Formats: sequence, C-alpha cells, structure tokens
Amino acid sequence: MTDHAIISETLLCEIKDQIATVTINRPQVLNALSIQVFTDLEHVFTQLAKDPDVRVILLTGAGEKAFAAGADIKELVETTRITGQSLSRRGHRIFRQIETCGKPVLALINGFALGGGCELALACTLRIAADSAKLGQPEARLGLIPGYGGTQRLPRLIGQSAALKLLLTGERIDAAEALRLGLVDEVVPLAELYLRGQQLASSILAMAPLAVAGCLEAVYKGADRDLDSALGIESRIFGRLSATADKAEGIRAFLEKHTPIWTGK
Ligand code: HXC
Repeated sequence: MTDHAIISETLLCEIKDQIATVTINRPQVLNALSIQVFTDLEHVFTQLAKDPDVRVILLTGAGEKAFAAGADIKELVETTRITGQSLSRRGHRIFRQIETCGKPVLALINGFALGGGCELALACTLRIAADSAKLGQPEARLGLIPGYGGTQRLPRLIGQSAALKLLLTGERIDAAEALRLGLVDEVVPLAELYLRGQQLASSILAMAPLAVAGCLEAVYKGADRDLDSALGIESRIFGRLSATADKAEGIRAFLEKHTPIWTGK
C-alpha cells in the first residue's frame, strides 16, 4: 500500500491507509461546482475507482463554511435550452460515476450543501453532517429545478412529500432536521466530522473488500427493479461471493476465533 496524492486544479485528493480524502477547494466561492470542478471530479474518481490502494472515499469541502453551495451561478448566466440540458446531463454522468464507482463514498458535509452541493451529497453512499451544516434545494428561486439528480434522488431517499417541500419552498434546513428526514445519516460537531468519517471508513475497511463491493452492487442495481428481479441480483452476487477466498477466510476466522486477513480474492 502506498500513500499518494492525485493532483487537479480544484480538488485536493490525498490517499492514506486505503482512505482517499477528496476536498473541493474553492472556499472563496463556497466550493461552488464549476465546470472545472466537474472535469476534476471525473478525472479523480476515474483514478480512485481503479486504484487498488483505495477502498473508501471521503468527500468534503475546503474551509468551515461550505461543502458546496451549488452549481457556480456565474456559469449559469448564459445557458440556453441546449447548453442547459447538456450541463445537466454531464452532471448526471459524473454524479452517477461517483455513485457507482464500486467503493463507498462518504460525504462529510461541513457547512452549506445547497442546490448542486446537496445533489452531490445525495449521490454519495452515506452523508455525515456537521452540526453547523445547512442543506437545501433553492434552485426554484433562480427559476430552475435541480439539474444534477435532485428531483430524483431526493424523493427516493426521503419520500415524495418531504422532497417536494424542500424543492418548492427552497427552505434551508439544519443538520438536525436533515437527520430527522433521513437526508443525512449522522450529525456530529464540526470539529469531529473528519474523525467520524475516518471511524466509519475504518469499520468498512474491516469488512471483506469484495463483500463491500457486493453490498453496493446489490443495493444500487436492485434499487429500481421489481422485487423478484432485485432478489435475483442479490442471489447471484451471494453465489459469486460464496466461492471467494475471503469468504473462506471470514468463516474460518470466525470459527477459529481470530481476525480475518483479507486478500480481496
Ligand atoms: C457562485 C457563489 C455561490 C454559487 C456562493 N458564492 N455561492 N458563487 N456560485 N453557487 C459566492 C458569493 O457570490 C460570494 O462571492 C462568496 O461565494 C461568499 O458567498 P456569500 O453569499 O457572500 O456568503 P453568505 O452571505 O454567507 O451566504 C451563503 C449562501 C449564499 C447562503 C450559501 O452564498 C447563497 O445563497 N449561495 C447560492 C446558493 C444557491 O442558490 N445554490 C444553487 C445554485 S443552482 P463574492 O465574490 O461576492 O465574495 C444549482 C443548480 C444545479 O446548484 C443544477 C445545474 C444543472
């Protein structure tokens, strides 16, 4: 295992002890998601997906004020029907790439997660919020709707009417309300956010790598299928894992009362 970094213009990405920390680094504009951020996310997540030294990804924003305050509004001034649609489609592609990269991505929401910033968090596997975080989908105030998956992922996560309330009012909610709605999974003091992300990452690292990937694959592939075909996906993955060396190791370790040593095979 080697610790290293991936260099890009708007993101910091450090890899240490199998955990990659990706930080959106535009604090002067509250980490607004410019076209360049998208280009960099695409590049970094392509690298992280195939990097054998990476098993869990933490995604956060630089500074103490924002995770990401949405799409870069200055870049929305000139959009037309055609360019607006293609901007949205590009965002869909990249957020889907993050969602299906095969490794857990934990959003550490360190402040504002608004508009596209909230949508980015929605595309992550889990969302841990600082107690100071504020979340919302204010796009209708700009004459728009969320264009990076928010109208689809938000109701799937928190239910249709809770989602519509956020979409139609543009209200910003605090971390406690986001937790109550199931929009975030945990709330911790800001000073403990990164530590909690690392603790969760460590718990995931203790699991068999192929099993972690199998959980992600089963949940995401099954999500929009009917129950019978989704159960078929589950049993195919279960069968595949049943024949792995790590399954033999996990069962043996339990029976012999020792800690398993994973090979990822
Ligand atoms: C560009 C932004 C920005 C954004 C903040 N800034 N959000 N720049 N795009 N989304 C800039 C401000 O212009 C300002 O720059 C600096 O960051 C600090 O922000 P302030 O507004 O001065 O801070 P504050 O008063 O604390 O207010 C924070 C805030 C507010 C409540 C988060 O900045 C805000 O409402 N931002 C916009 C949130 C939003 O509407 N997001 C949705 C975007 S649309 P200067 O140069 O003045 O110092 C979207 C659609 C996605 O996401 C889908 C597209 C297909």
